[in-house]
Amino acid sequence: MKKLIPVYVRVPLIFFAVFGAMEYFIDSGDRPAFIKFPMVSLFLFVFLFLLIAIEVTISAIDTITYHLLTDEQKAKLEEATSLSFGESDWYKNIMKKLTKSTPIEKEGELLLDHDYDGIRELDNSLPPWWVYLFYACIVFAVVYLVRFEILGAPDQEMELKNDIAQAKIEIAEYMKTAPDLMDEKTVTLLTDPAELAIGKEIFTTNCAACHRADAGGQIGPNLTDEQWILGGGIKNVFHTIMNGGRDGKGMISWKGTLKPKEMQKVASYILSLKGSNPKDAKAPEGEIWVDDAASKNEASAAPAVDTTAAQ
Ligand code: HEC
Repeated sequence: MKKLIPVYVRVPLIFFAVFGAMEYFIDSGDRPAFIKFPMVSLFLFVFLFLLIAIEVTISAIDTITYHLLTDEQKAKLEEATSLSFGESDWYKNIMKKLTKSTPIEKEGELLLDHDYDGIRELDNSLPPWWVYLFYACIVFAVVYLVRFEILGAPDQEMELKNDIAQAKIEIAEYMKTAPDLMDEKTVTLLTDPAELAIGKEIFTTNCAACHRADAGGQIGPNLTDEQWILGGGIKNVFHTIMNGGRDGKGMISWKGTLKPKEMQKVASYILSLKGSNPKDAKAPEGEIWVDDAASKNEASAAPAVDTTAAQ
């Protein structure tokens, strides 16, 4: 059989495979590993040297053994090396093992003894490559069944759900620290007068047209009373400003105009006006808002209180 890969391809191929593997597995940041770590360069250099040395040695041994052969053996070797890959014994053996095919000359032995209008049938054995594949499928099916149906490993849908849940946790984590990102879950009430003053400015520019400069209400509802249509408290008010009111009522979403931080300021400003009782204010709309979350928080913040004591 001829040598499959000539030496001038084999050596570079092995060398670059090892080189690539080292670059892949060694974490060297944005610079190649062989530049960042001189030891890697040294190793690669020595490796290349050894590779060439081995090739040289092998070819030298080949030459020497060739000279030691008898003429008969030389002829045999010549014949073997002149065969192409497809003709080699090795290849033929493998193909025979994988297909168990019967040569055409011997097909007569396989013929079954029935005859359907001239159509006759061979009793070929199943090709082993196919049989092994079939067994592999059965093994796979058993492993799959046990893993997913009996042991309950997460299937793709579960994996997706887990990933989404994980991502939500990460987003929440990020929101906590990101300065200008805020949603109704993370928003907090501001009380600092300087920030409320900025909130007032935003209100006067954007909101006063409908809610009146003193927030007593005009087109939009009174924002100073205890009643809220869409819910009071910083989280609901922020949500209303962010997403707008009910469809067709006139309160648009301010997402595109105001930054979350600005919405927080104007929402805090509105809430600071509670009970300011402006003159000629619009009649209350909606329901009196009771902050469940706050009372819950208070309850959980003071767990030591004996609730039976008052009775
Ligand atoms: C075009 C008129 C208009 C403008 C401008 C406007 N609003 Fe409104 N707003 C309304 C209307 C109408 C409603 C009632 C919505 C509903 O009933 O769903 C409302 C509702 C609200 C509510 C909820 C009130 C409740 O009782 O639940 C808040 C809070 C609010 N607006 C804040 C603002 C803020 C802050 C701005 C400025 C950034 C603003 N609005 C600008 C018309 C307006």
